[in-house]
Amino acid sequence: MKAILLGTAAGGGFPQWNCACPMCTAGLPPRTQDCLAISADGSSWYLINASPDIRAQILATKQLAPGPGPRETPLRGVLLTDAELDHTLGLTMLRETPVMSVWAPPAVLTALHTDFPLAPILSRYGTWTWHPITAPLTLDRLHITPIPISTKHPKYTTSSTDTPWVVAYRIHDPTTGGTLIYAPCLSTWPEGFTELAAGATCIILDGTFYSADEMSTATHTGVPTPTQRAMGHLPITGPTGTLPRIAAHPTKRWLYTHLNNTNPLLNPTSPEHAAVLNGGAEIPMDGTELNL
Ligand code: MLT
Ligand code: MN
Ligand code: ZN
Repeated sequence: MKAILLGTAAGGGFPQWNCACPMCTAGLPPRTQDCLAISADGSSWYLINASPDIRAQILATKQLAPGPGPRETPLRGVLLTDAELDHTLGLTMLRETPVMSVWAPPAVLTALHTDFPLAPILSRYGTWTWHPITAPLTLDRLHITPIPISTKHPKYTTSSTDTPWVVAYRIHDPTTGGTLIYAPCLSTWPEGFTELAAGATCIILDGTFYSADEMSTATHTGVPTPTQRAMGHLPITGPTGTLPRIAAHPTKRWLYTHLNNTNPLLNPTSPEHAAVLNGGAEIPMDGTELNL
């Protein structure tokens, strides 16, 4: 299996367009919004999440270049981990395609037919097929299993349900034996997640915030309070942090994604960046390719 981290920033990207904080104005390497591409054979590809930056991400990725026919694309479908705008707005950028398939948890599909009606809108541009995903599925030869994470739903939704709004995906390639877990939104460390990680080759996980109080201590003024904003994303450090859990599995490859513009590890010369590398995790840049 091949995987490409098309984007590694949280909603808003890095730098964020309306932010003049020291981080966003330091000239640090830019990052586009969280999105992954996976493929069994390197010729047909599936996106996990469709970021608002998807057009630039496709243009920057030779594996996703159109062809061989004049209107053919190696893109076969999209799997969604949730209904947040940073993971779904990119579907509108794919409207030039005559056909597209989307898989998502049922609550997410309901949101995309009601509060944020992308499905009926896109159906006027092409033939879009929307599949609920609640059980394992095989795409090409890849075995894809949704892992329920939380019932955190987007701000724009008017109704909440106690069915999963957020999932992670476990992707297993029976030919190579490689297993990838993609979990860009972790509000808690789910029951059984440690065991799942133990059986994986590589885990890409939520690195939104370095610390739980980041939003209150950051120079980002005028943004929502830390408790509101940090909700839905476990921090990397501290008592609830994900980095201490990584230490228990030193042989796995762990990569942080969905990095918020407040996260000090975005600066490659920061002590926080060094602490994460020393803790056994990677901070991949956009375009990082994995062979599993
Ligand atoms: C999240 O990851 O919590 C959401 O994408 C927040 C947002 O709306 O940007
Ligand atoms: Mn997000
Ligand atoms: Zn900023």
